[in-house]
Amino acid sequence: MPQPVDSARSIVRDAKRIAVLTGAGVSAESGIPTFRSNGGFWQNQRFEDLATPQGFARDPKFVWQWYEERRRNIAETKPNAGHHALVALENRAEQFTLVTQNVDGLHDLAGSKNLIKLHGDIWTLRCTKCNKEKVDRTELADLPPYCDCGGMLRPGVVWFGEMLPEGAIEKASAVVVSADVLIVAGTSAQVYPAAALIPLALRSRAAVIEVNPEETDFSSDVTFGLRGPSATILPQLL
Ligand code: APR
Repeated sequence: MPQPVDSARSIVRDAKRIAVLTGAGVSAESGIPTFRSNGGFWQNQRFEDLATPQGFARDPKFVWQWYEERRRNIAETKPNAGHHALVALENRAEQFTLVTQNVDGLHDLAGSKNLIKLHGDIWTLRCTKCNKEKVDRTELADLPPYCDCGGMLRPGVVWFGEMLPEGAIEKASAVVVSADVLIVAGTSAQVYPAAALIPLALRSRAAVIEVNPEETDFSSDVTFGLRGPSATILPQLL
């Protein structure tokens, strides 16, 4: 009796168009805590204090202290075997798009090319006055940082209640609708509109492969539910 991962591997092997949706779980084995599991960043910090425009307006220095602490933590980490497996898959597939909710930049570091970042990038700073964006990986000494124009800089990430980057979810939806397979790895599938890509795939023609040590709302609907850590399972799909 073939194991689900063997069947999933043959689906991936035969797929011409591969779409992938990743969440914080794929960076867990690089040492970056996820948001909603125990000990995650959010456990000891309240959402409304940190990842909302209101929280930032109320206390920009406090919010920047938390983001800069994350930037410093992430700077010490590196991509894991799961990130590298997705790069190998991209290099082999006829069509491949990686849609990520992650802002840590580890997919870029691993070498992923065709990437849609739904929630922005923690290494990007955006001016709240002139809207200019720049990538800055340096340690930000003075918080909050300011733009040359005098405006205050904010993290280039999407906060709760904010719009996603222009066209991102539309592009990701088009990719999912035409995919032969959607691999969903490391996400609790609780934050929309990113999570809506999963039922969209289930209503379309894609086989959906979920990689997660825990169940999610969609686990009973997916084609293959591979229960385990992505750094182990994703390489097995190659
Ligand atoms: N491999 C695969 N999945 C894992 C691993 C692992 N080693 N470890 C944990 N997970 C799973 C957890 O079971 C959980 O389902 O990763 C998921 C992480 O879920 P969340 O912490 O909710 O992260 P995510 O789904 O990415 O959150 C979505 O919410 O906070 C906002 O903007 C933030 O992008 C984030 C969004």
